[in-house]
Amino acid sequence: MVSTASSSLAPAKLPRHVAIVMDGNGRWAQKRWMPRVAGHKQGVETLRAIVRACIERGVPALSVFAFSSENWNRPVDEVSGLMDLLVLALSREVPSLEKSGVRLHFPGDRSGLSARVVQGLEAAERSTAHNSTLVLNVCFNYGGRWDVVQAARRLAQKGIEITEESLSQSTALAHVGDPDLLIRTGGELRISNFLLWQSAYTELVFTDCLWPDFDAAELDRAFGEFARRDRRFGRTAEQQVDAQPVVDKRHA
Ligand code: IPE
Ligand code: IPE
Ligand code: MG
Repeated sequence: MVSTASSSLAPAKLPRHVAIVMDGNGRWAQKRWMPRVAGHKQGVETLRAIVRACIERGVPALSVFAFSSENWNRPVDEVSGLMDLLVLALSREVPSLEKSGVRLHFPGDRSGLSARVVQGLEAAERSTAHNSTLVLNVCFNYGGRWDVVQAARRLAQKGIEITEESLSQSTALAHVGDPDLLIRTGGELRISNFLLWQSAYTELVFTDCLWPDFDAAELDRAFGEFARRDRRFGRTAEQQVDAQPVVDKRHA
């Protein structure tokens, strides 16, 4: 447990890009004898609070996992409940996000989504495109493997050589740097096909807290843990690495 509230952390100690696997909604609801979708609804409330907390703390980029490529394997009712909730949340939340300076992106495979959902995502991206306080990536129908494949395919189609740099620039999150910190709520110790390429040097923090129970204090605990990590990027501890990723020198 962290003793110091990291909301008071020096800006240099704060992660610039935070990624979150928002897990535990179903269990939160089931513990209360409620349908799983009630947990997802509560999860939207948590996300609103965490977006506000990131803005207050000066974090410039937040990427959340909202629906994975594999979540289609869930019961039809839950999948359609999640699609309905996305459309509802967009209509309710986008106006205030727009006012708060949030720029929305929805990285993910749109080809698998209905026209109604795609229109909602595109409208939200358009209406927040002028904002720059916080980039919020809501990864929807996203999978890390899908992202690498679509990036490689795009480069191949354009006849561009595949390098680490060109592939990074073709991923669905090319508009933000790699995440510094990845938080997973809900107690599972896995990545579940989230930002596989981008999290090569990301610090990982796992918490048993279920996503609907997660709050600014939990976020500060994760930030405190991040601030105490020694990010070496392959170097030794004695080499005084600052928080900049060291570029792969093998081919230099
Ligand atoms: C995460 O919560 C949200 C989505 C995957 C859409 P879960 O629905 O996976 O919640 P648990 O893990 O079953 O508790
Ligand atoms: C990961 O959670 C996906 C999202 C949070 C959207 P899951 O609950 O789907 O992950 P697994 O299946 O337990 O690994
Ligand atoms: Mg889960």
